[in-house]
Amino acid sequence: MPLDVRPTTFEDAIAARRLGAEAFGVPSTPPPVPTPGSWPPENVRPWIVKDGDDIAGVLSVRSFTSWFHGARVRTAGIAGVTVAAERRGTGILRPMFAAVLADARQRGEAISTLYPTQAGVYRGVGYEIVGAYQVLRVPMPALAKVRPPSGGTRARRATAEDLAGIQSVYRSWASGHNGPLTREDVPFAMEADEMFGSESTYTGISVAVDGERIVGFVSWTRGTGYDRTGTLEVDDLVAETPDAARALWRVIASFDPVVGSADVPTTAGWSGADPIRLVLPDHAATIVRDEPYMLRILDVEAALGRAILPPIQACVPFAVVDPTTPDIEGSWSLETTGDGSPTIGSDRGENPDRLVFTSAGLAVSYAGSVSTTALRRAGHLTGPTTHDAAWDALWRGRDIHVRDYF
Ligand SMILES: CC(C)(COP(=O)(O)OP(=O)(O)OC[C@H]1O[C@@H](n2cnc3c(N)ncnc32)[C@H](O)[C@@H]1OP(=O)(O)O)[C@@H](O)C(=O)NCCC(=O)NCCS
Repeated sequence: MPLDVRPTTFEDAIAARRLGAEAFGVPSTPPPVPTPGSWPPENVRPWIVKDGDDIAGVLSVRSFTSWFHGARVRTAGIAGVTVAAERRGTGILRPMFAAVLADARQRGEAISTLYPTQAGVYRGVGYEIVGAYQVLRVPMPALAKVRPPSGGTRARRATAEDLAGIQSVYRSWASGHNGPLTREDVPFAMEADEMFGSESTYTGISVAVDGERIVGFVSWTRGTGYDRTGTLEVDDLVAETPDAARALWRVIASFDPVVGSADVPTTAGWSGADPIRLVLPDHAATIVRDEPYMLRILDVEAALGRAILPPIQACVPFAVVDPTTPDIEGSWSLETTGDGSPTIGSDRGENPDRLVFTSAGLAVSYAGSVSTTALRRAGHLTGPTTHDAAWDALWRGRDIHVRDYF
């Protein structure tokens, strides 16, 4: 009997969830038991692979919107990928992804992203690592010498009235990078109830203000104990100015006598560093969480064509040639006239100067995380080098950061 890949109906919901729990372990706070009225959960598209009555695999898709190159890009976020233990290694994954990604593309999702447990598995279906969700543990002594803000910036505790200002700070940061979610979609929507209501998991949210204007925020959870062995958990620390960053770091540093360190989600590397780290007088920190983030293009024209690119004139022929991802193979010509909006039209691939990417090569190049020189060395880009410099100038201008784990 052929495999049947389809959206999970309520009849299979409990068994599908059991399969997920078997693979990932039962969560410490399990989600509510599904009921016909609550299935599927909000912003979740659960998929199942059936072989007759047997469940061979499951996964879930969430619709997100990500910022890439100044544009909002509809994103199929994949999670909970599980193949039944006895069926692993028997070729379930490829047909499962083919059906799920075709559906996502049809819904208008231009890219797909996921956090892998094993990157190799997803390379086979066109994904590549473009960045990582990372958490740095910063020892309190490393924050002791953060200078006070020099201007009129100061920190104060936020209230629900500050929500719009906080959202605006997040939006200005996120839209300037590649990768961040817009946080307009469940479960990452920045809403008053979740941030300030009785359901909030934060101990506090502090804002940096310059006059009345909110120029940064930090959301934090205090944790237990007061003997300097504990860690204060930061959920977000985003600042528009160096003074805002200093003011917010100093809020964290003020806990020095009662906690030993702070865990801060931030990009750990010094290449493409998070600006909030550049104001710190000391670099001391250890990575306590490191989750690679993989990306795959689903629709070349929809993803690349909406980017806001640097104001340079260029005409670059390019192609994707990759037998593992026939759905995105093709040949195009990218033209920018200098107004920042590219035109991408498919062509017949006759230009001998065209850049030839693998699916992974286009994914990392689009994310801006790897240069054409490096891609050539990895075998993800071939063809003459005529257009390498133009391609890098167009796509390498924004750093990649991801802050929401799913
Ligand atoms: C991860 C998981 C879903 C993969 O399913 P699977 O059936 O075991 O996958 P396969 O072994 O058929 O591998 C799929 C493809 O990836 C390739 N692959 C597997 N591991 C690889 C590795 N480490 N490096 C490179 N390629 C790898 C396989 O060769 C295969 O390619 P092919 O289709 O061209 O033959 C399954 O092992 C599982 O359920 N694990 C437990 C839960 C889990 O970790 N889920 C992932 C969450 S992100």
